[in-house]
Amino acid sequence: MRKSSKQFETEAIRTQMERTQFLEHSSPMYLTSSFVFEDAEDMRASFAEEKDRNIYSRYSNPNSSEFIDKVCKMEGAENGFAFASGMAAVYSTLAALLESGDHVVSCKSIFGSTHTLFTQFFPKWNITTSYFGANDLDAVEGLITPKTKIIYVESPTNPGVDVLDLERLGNIAKKHGVIFIIDNCFASPYLQQPIKFGADLVIHSGTKLMDGQGRVLAGITVGSNELVDKVYRFSRITGPALSPFNAWVLSKSLETLALRVDRHCSNALELATYLEGHDKIEWVKYPFLKSHPQHELAKKQMKAGGCVVAFEVKGGLEAGRKFFDNIELLSLSANLGDARSIVTHPASTTHSKLSKEDRESVGITDGMVRVSVGLEHIKDIIADIEQALE
Ligand SMILES: Cc1ncc(COP(=O)(O)O)c(C=O)c1O
Repeated sequence: MRKSSKQFETEAIRTQMERTQFLEHSSPMYLTSSFVFEDAEDMRASFAEEKDRNIYSRYSNPNSSEFIDKVCKMEGAENGFAFASGMAAVYSTLAALLESGDHVVSCKSIFGSTHTLFTQFFPKWNITTSYFGANDLDAVEGLITPKTKIIYVESPTNPGVDVLDLERLGNIAKKHGVIFIIDNCFASPYLQQPIKFGADLVIHSGTKLMDGQGRVLAGITVGSNELVDKVYRFSRITGPALSPFNAWVLSKSLETLALRVDRHCSNALELATYLEGHDKIEWVKYPFLKSHPQHELAKKQMKAGGCVVAFEVKGGLEAGRKFFDNIELLSLSANLGDARSIVTHPASTTHSKLSKEDRESVGITDGMVRVSVGLEHIKDIIADIEQALE
């Protein structure tokens, strides 16, 4: 584990690549596709992996390594690999570990593109998936077969913000000798470190809270040396690597992750509390609201509730459409974890590829609204939602 005695915020700022001869304070950007060798022997030894050094930016780059080092320290992981997007991380991690005939046990409530990967693409390679509901962990062991290689989850889930018991899942995975993978991007490493609860690999879409300003696409997978090595060997050949420029942006962003996420969470809790008492709202869900079904579990696993609040406007789809059309300040967009607050309609956007039945089985109703609560002043966020509801 890349552990240290320093606090999260300090590591986020002080984990840094070696200084060059210019003694720069902030890390420079290495926009180079390849690296040079001293001589023929250096070249041979580098390719034979007798030396730990950069060869080609599809394999590694100082900016990606700095970003990976930070996330490993934050998550308590041994090693990692950085990807061009969250989906590149999800796909490459799974593809590196799965073989034809393997089976995955996945929570039903997962990001739409990951769901499409399981339902439309993996079956082409004879990889099958069985699903359990976010509130039905009793079903997990019954789905495991001798072919099961991976248990896959997100927590909190997208977009319904259900919270899964990670320690329980970690114990099940250990008992059955399967790999436990979690997409942790709704929480960020600041709020939740799943390796503590038994996860083997942790995936993030860096596009979300890690960047936090809606600028770059990125992904990362971290975990044990043994599993990450498999992911690395697959990825250095297939080429989903993160660009050095985006890695530099992300490493800078992580310096302020704790500060930003604290404000996202306090704003989100204030909005959720306001909506809970509102006569135009059918229901509201947020992990740190007492009314959330897994509130106690959320408090055990997470430092705070995250940036996403889910709710339904009374009056169903039509009322929901009017609400979106009336929004003025907040952005109608599909991202989350941005400094700008964003409202999304999951049924027609992020989860539109799922059938209506599949959507309803994971609690995505036609009128559901997902708000990614940003860093604007909470009074302005609430005022915009208030006027849109009126
Ligand atoms: C939970 C979750 N995982 C993965 C992704 C994919 O990330 P990216 O858009 O960076 O490919 C998303 C994107 O919205 C997401 O919400």
